[in-house]
Amino acid sequence: MAKIAVLGYGTVGSGVYHVIKTNSGIVEKNANEKIEIKYVLDLRDFPGDPVEDVLTHNFEDIINDSEISVVVEVMGGLRPAYEFTKRCLESGKSVCTSNKELVAEHGAELIETAEKHGVTYLFEASVGGGIPIIRTLISSITSERILEIKGILNGTTNYMLTKMSKEGLEYGDVLKEAQEKGYAERNPSADVEGHDACRKISILMSLALEGQVDYKDVHTEGITEITKTDMEYAAAIGKEIKLLGVGKNSKEGSYVMVAPFLVGDESPLYGVRGVFNGICITGNMLGEVMFYGKGAGKEATAAAVVSDVIDAVRNKINPKRIKWACEKVALLPFENIPQSKLIRIESLDTEAGKKAVESVFGNMDFIQLENHDDEFAFISPKQSEAELDEKLSMLLNKDNIDNILGTIRIEE
Ligand code: HSE
Repeated sequence: MAKIAVLGYGTVGSGVYHVIKTNSGIVEKNANEKIEIKYVLDLRDFPGDPVEDVLTHNFEDIINDSEISVVVEVMGGLRPAYEFTKRCLESGKSVCTSNKELVAEHGAELIETAEKHGVTYLFEASVGGGIPIIRTLISSITSERILEIKGILNGTTNYMLTKMSKEGLEYGDVLKEAQEKGYAERNPSADVEGHDACRKISILMSLALEGQVDYKDVHTEGITEITKTDMEYAAAIGKEIKLLGVGKNSKEGSYVMVAPFLVGDESPLYGVRGVFNGICITGNMLGEVMFYGKGAGKEATAAAVVSDVIDAVRNKINPKRIKWACEKVALLPFENIPQSKLIRIESLDTEAGKKAVESVFGNMDFIQLENHDDEFAFISPKQSEAELDEKLSMLLNKDNIDNILGTIRIEE
């Protein structure tokens, strides 16, 4: 019998309790032994909840109990999750987590600590909720040079963008509705400003490149500037706007970024809508594979955590080695990244404005929306961010160009 402890009885923690109780037979068969939750740590009390029997408010109960071989950390945040995780690993207890903030910040170090003490640090649920993407990178795609990882990694923003696109709503109205439904937090910044997706793509690219992709080095844009009119332009060119995490690994170097992209129906990510996540990995031999599923939610996320618990219990003697070194990966400067973008131009004389654009960019196809006679858009040729910025500055100095209303990258 393996005895485990769960740190945090929030959404994921209570999900872990539920999955282990509901699927106890399957869990036992796959772990080769019964798994029992001996402690749940939380500051709160839960009167009437079955968890009461195993509830503790004191982490020392867990760390000092030699019977505990695996600890589930689903508290979220950096403190005290980092200290608790470190102490568990140093005491010879494996740790399984859904905590992407902690994994993105200290993943490499905690893996090293685990290895030093003959245990494992597993984090399947930190990216893509229930989608088995970490295990795929660690154990399945092992004969490949990974060329690209691209994904819709945040369910909240994907829900909001889908709603804006399908119902012609403005960002603020959709955010309000998503908050009322409980999809978006009261403080939505981690989701809508792209920080959540940034941590997730940084974790995936760290595993792909076997070094530390520091999320602080990743250029990150959220969806807060996306408008109903952007959605109309997207529809006019047969595309949808998705918040993508993109990591590329070429001979010239690697880059990672998070931003809204215009995605066409030739992309497998086009059909990923609502709260779902989709992740594409391209290997140099394998080509492209795609993973799709619930990227959040109590049971899906908890199921991924419990799969890690099963792994940790089953591989107690010979723990899994995860290649993610502490050394930082040098990313290509963001300014060098070549992109093509949809550029929206405000102009009271659109015909003269279009001529001004062609004087800077050469011959262009323009997109003119009905009922928008003071603006138009065009798709810029692929060039580096720095080159494009320079051309846009030149354009702003031209007559009949009143403003640049926005730019959105084209996915390719
Ligand atoms: N806020 C996250 C999302 C939860 O919307 O995808 C899962 O990490």
